[in-house]
Amino acid sequence: MSYKDLQKIQKESTEQVLPSQKKVLSAADKIRRKTSNLPDPTHPPMGWKDNKGYDHIFPWIHLPRLHPRNHGDKVIFNAPEKPANQLILGDNLEVLRTLASESIDLIYIDPPFFSGRNYNVIWGDTNEVRSFYDIWEGGIDSYLVWLNARLWEMRRVLKKTGSIYVHCDWHASHYIKTEMDKIFGYDNFKRELVWATDDTSGFKSQAKNWIRAHDVIFFYTKTKEYYFDKKIAIYTHKEEYIKRFKKRDENGRLYRDDRPGSRKQYLDETLGKPIGDVWDDILSFQQASTSSEYLGYPTQKPQEALERIISISCPIIGVVADFFCGGGTTLAAAIKLKRNFIGCDSSRVAISVTLDRLVKIGEEMSGVKSNLQKFQKASLKKDLFSKEAFQLKIQVEKIIEKVPNIEVSYLGVYPTEKFASIPQEDFVDFVLTCYGASKNTAQGVAHGFRPPGQSEPILIGPASPKESVNGKEVKAFFDEIKNRLEPNKLVSAKIIGWRFSRQVVKYIKILEDYIFKNNLPVKLELIPLDSKEFRVKVLQRYSDASDAEFYLRFSKAPVIGDIKVKKVKGLEPASAKASAGRYEFEAIDAFSTNEDGWLVNCQWDFDYQEGHFFADKDYVLSREKIKDKKKGERFKATLSVKHMFEKPGEYTIACKVQDNLAGETIFSKKIKI
Ligand SMILES: C[S@@+](CC[C@H](N)C(=O)[O-])C[C@H]1O[C@@H](n2cnc3c(N)ncnc32)[C@H](O)[C@@H]1O
Repeated sequence: MSYKDLQKIQKESTEQVLPSQKKVLSAADKIRRKTSNLPDPTHPPMGWKDNKGYDHIFPWIHLPRLHPRNHGDKVIFNAPEKPANQLILGDNLEVLRTLASESIDLIYIDPPFFSGRNYNVIWGDTNEVRSFYDIWEGGIDSYLVWLNARLWEMRRVLKKTGSIYVHCDWHASHYIKTEMDKIFGYDNFKRELVWATDDTSGFKSQAKNWIRAHDVIFFYTKTKEYYFDKKIAIYTHKEEYIKRFKKRDENGRLYRDDRPGSRKQYLDETLGKPIGDVWDDILSFQQASTSSEYLGYPTQKPQEALERIISISCPIIGVVADFFCGGGTTLAAAIKLKRNFIGCDSSRVAISVTLDRLVKIGEEMSGVKSNLQKFQKASLKKDLFSKEAFQLKIQVEKIIEKVPNIEVSYLGVYPTEKFASIPQEDFVDFVLTCYGASKNTAQGVAHGFRPPGQSEPILIGPASPKESVNGKEVKAFFDEIKNRLEPNKLVSAKIIGWRFSRQVVKYIKILEDYIFKNNLPVKLELIPLDSKEFRVKVLQRYSDASDAEFYLRFSKAPVIGDIKVKKVKGLEPASAKASAGRYEFEAIDAFSTNEDGWLVNCQWDFDYQEGHFFADKDYVLSREKIKDKKKGERFKATLSVKHMFEKPGEYTIACKVQDNLAGETIFSKKIKI
């Protein structure tokens, strides 16, 4: 997406108008101000400014989404012809600001609750902890402004027939409701759903109070013409009810005739009870902590609740979005119900956990192992008799559902290693968009120009972070500039790349001498992409961006030196035949390579196949909470694990670690058991 497209979206966002509100309060403004300060939906939402929306608080920096096409970021099942599902790492406000208007049917969000200082770190990313401090330091009003800016964009991206569900708890629900009334319209509030979590036992039950046992979900629509499948919004009959139909007719249909008037009543003709606004039939993970769905982090929501919302509020060909997707509950429900989805989270750990979960579901549904490099190679070679091709055939025959691809993309925080695999043309577009420059459409060496005019020509180095800008290209770039110079018109040329070899730096010095001696109106600058300098240059254009440290960062992958393998003695299972033995693995010499970085999580796959990491269920999140005097409470990855192999053989084990600054890496090792 180019800088121009992003500008167009920004225009649409600031142009969208607040909903026209009917008067809810009857007293005249003047009197009301004297007597009360009831929230008035005809007033603009907090933080909103005419003609600027929320840009003055959260400057709209036009950053592109990076779409790597491999490296596990494009997961292919069996329907690549269908529009791909999207998973995005990034701050949701930035992500929303790259999405087309009126493109989404249903939004569900479960934002971090406003719960004062008792904030529960879920993933341990610095972004997560930092945004908590930024948002909550200012109290509930700053929390509401933060949320409003996002809700404002969500309204823009919703289709006219679309719906939004916002999950909250008592801390801010009443305040969120009054703000949502202003953004979506008092009349577009449809229902307050109460999810009775019924956890009245345990620690919570000791409160000297009524025991808190519910969350609230607000349901709003964009307009009056909203999609809602009433046929599905009914409970299926409970077992006790079905048992009342004791008789069967000649066609096998169940019926009863024991009611007054002894009229025959068929079970299949009775509608279930319409679902009300109190949901007490879906267990929370406090009640069902052993559920196979539970991944072990606080705030995980049950998939059943999301399946209910999606099946009722999103048409079958519709798009569902969750901009606080966490461990991917909404997206898992969407893929299962064959809806397309867009999910986003600011935590790399959350995105990793989500992708893993979705790939597992996608593979189960399609019967196809995604992305296996071996299989792809085999099918390309058309070696029909190879073992791999045979396995592929079996898998194709097992296809159950068509599952579209999943594409992972990155916004604002860019993993450096991903650039190694993107085409040069995409890299050029990426840098130009970050820099607010337009592409050079004429012939020439310069890749683009930053306005005004063509006074700032730009040359961009190779996409691979390991390669330096090429000296020959620098020379051609300089010659081109020199030939176009006009008297008294300063040209400030920029060469942007990952690194500059010593020869290039030397060569630039020579050119600078030449410029000086000949008194040419040219300035040459080398700018490393992942430098503070580049960020400062990008942000110069945005007057409202004061502290933008986290808007544009490049994150380096951590390092894992090796995996230490140790057979655990004395712990042989009773039946030695059933098991090939218990092993202990440890990721050694593993560390973050980012400044101020540390490893926050470690995942394991004990039967890894290249290009296809599948975290073992018990090691999706392996970390411990530690108290650090300097850094406060934080997560630290647990780097050693135990695993029991059922059968002897050759295995490849793999370990994946994430750091607190969005760095991630995989290390694998072959072992014989
Ligand atoms: C309450 S959790 C969501 C849990 C989710 N419903 C589930 O079932 O797993 C909130 C999520 O919002 C994410 N988050 C917080 N601020 C964000 C932001 N500005 N942009 C994107 N994600 C954000 C956090 O990383 C966290 O994963």
